[in-house]
Amino acid sequence: MYSNLCLTATAVAAIFALLAISTTRFSPPLPETLDEPNIEYLSIDGGVGPESFAFDSAGGGPYTGISDGRIIKWLPDKQRWIDFAVTSPNRTGCEEGEKEEERCGRPLGLRFKHGDGDLYIADAYMGLLHVGANGGLAKPVEFEMEEDQVLGFHSFTFANSLDIDQLSGHVYFTDSSSHYHRRNFASAILSGDSSGRLMKYDPKSKQLSLLLGNLSFPNGVSLSKNRDFLLLAETTKCRILKYWLGTGKAEVVGELPGFPDNIKRSRSSKGGGFWVGIHSRRGGVLRLILSQSWIGKGLVKLPLDVDKIYSYLGKWIGSGGVGVRVSEEGEVMEIIEGKAELRGRSFSEVEEGEDGVLWIGSINSPFAAKINVSKY
Ligand SMILES: *[C@@H]1O[C@H](CO)[C@@H](O)[C@H](O)[C@H]1NC(C)=O
Ligand SMILES: *[C@@H]1O[C@H](CO)[C@@H](O)[C@H](O)[C@H]1NC(C)=O
Ligand SMILES: *[C@@H]1O[C@H](CO)[C@@H](O)[C@H](O)[C@H]1NC(C)=O
Repeated sequence: MYSNLCLTATAVAAIFALLAISTTRFSPPLPETLDEPNIEYLSIDGGVGPESFAFDSAGGGPYTGISDGRIIKWLPDKQRWIDFAVTSPNRTGCEEGEKEEERCGRPLGLRFKHGDGDLYIADAYMGLLHVGANGGLAKPVEFEMEEDQVLGFHSFTFANSLDIDQLSGHVYFTDSSSHYHRRNFASAILSGDSSGRLMKYDPKSKQLSLLLGNLSFPNGVSLSKNRDFLLLAETTKCRILKYWLGTGKAEVVGELPGFPDNIKRSRSSKGGGFWVGIHSRRGGVLRLILSQSWIGKGLVKLPLDVDKIYSYLGKWIGSGGVGVRVSEEGEVMEIIEGKAELRGRSFSEVEEGEDGVLWIGSINSPFAAKINVSKY
């Protein structure tokens, strides 16, 4: 125990020493900087952190989940948000946000199933849920485990992102860790935790199956246009995996300049590919921490608030997020960086609206940002 603490004290000293000399290296194409007149900020009352967006089958919305556990819907005509759904019944004290999120829920991934209009929700605490087109209280999906598959845990610790195959109805989703909750995401990253899973849910048979295990913070997941593969963000490793649905084989297709969050397929006919929200750029220090798994593990054992250290480190490492469009092969095609209000904020998601507008989600913003790219 004592030697462990010594080791980690040295590591902390090394990290803080490195802070002074760390430089931000940023290899792929330089970010385009967007002018403020192209960005609208749609402020949110009562909560922060619109993490992910979804449009219903009629193109309405977007809908997004926020810190007090509500899923809200944007009404473009009225220029305001309305309440749509919640993932837990008792709303007392939920305005406290993060402090109460274990009880109030934290809806992250959202996707509508066309046809019946159900909204599927990956909630960081409540697991996989669904709610009808009229909203209200969402219900957990009913499922059966495949007997020949050892899932390890019969519940989800940190459901995060999802996508739906609109033809088969299959829901693909990630459980980012079997050990750490969302609130302790920094610990999950620093410790090199690799207990995350990619799962599939079939609403017809109610079968739940494991597609990939031993993942290091699996996060965004998105189905390809031809429905033959999934792109999957492995946040801790700053990389994108391609999972072939036919063969069940996975390969690394992209290394990124920061920590990837959600992945959404680009709807634009020109270019295509996928938008990846980059939570924060990868600095030299964090790269060092992550390459030395013992440092991360030691840090987690220290009686310090690792999440605070992480946010402190983040302030010094040029932590602002960016949005990156990657091809189906994972090559970086385009990078956008927010100016003004978006500067220094994490990008959890870039979702392309029907009208060529980009919606920028951010886990620490009191607004949803809307960028009109055609004006740019
Ligand atoms: C709702 O939650 C609050 C806060 O935890 C608790 O005091 C209250 O008893 C709960 N109400 C019901 C009906 O369970
Ligand atoms: C994870 O890795 C361990 C050790 O290598 C292995 O025994 C286990 O089967 C793997 N689990 C999954 C779900 O791939
Ligand atoms: C985006 O800007 C273009 C050019 O000013 C405009 O024609 C278009 O209506 C705008 N789109 C939206 C969705 O606001």
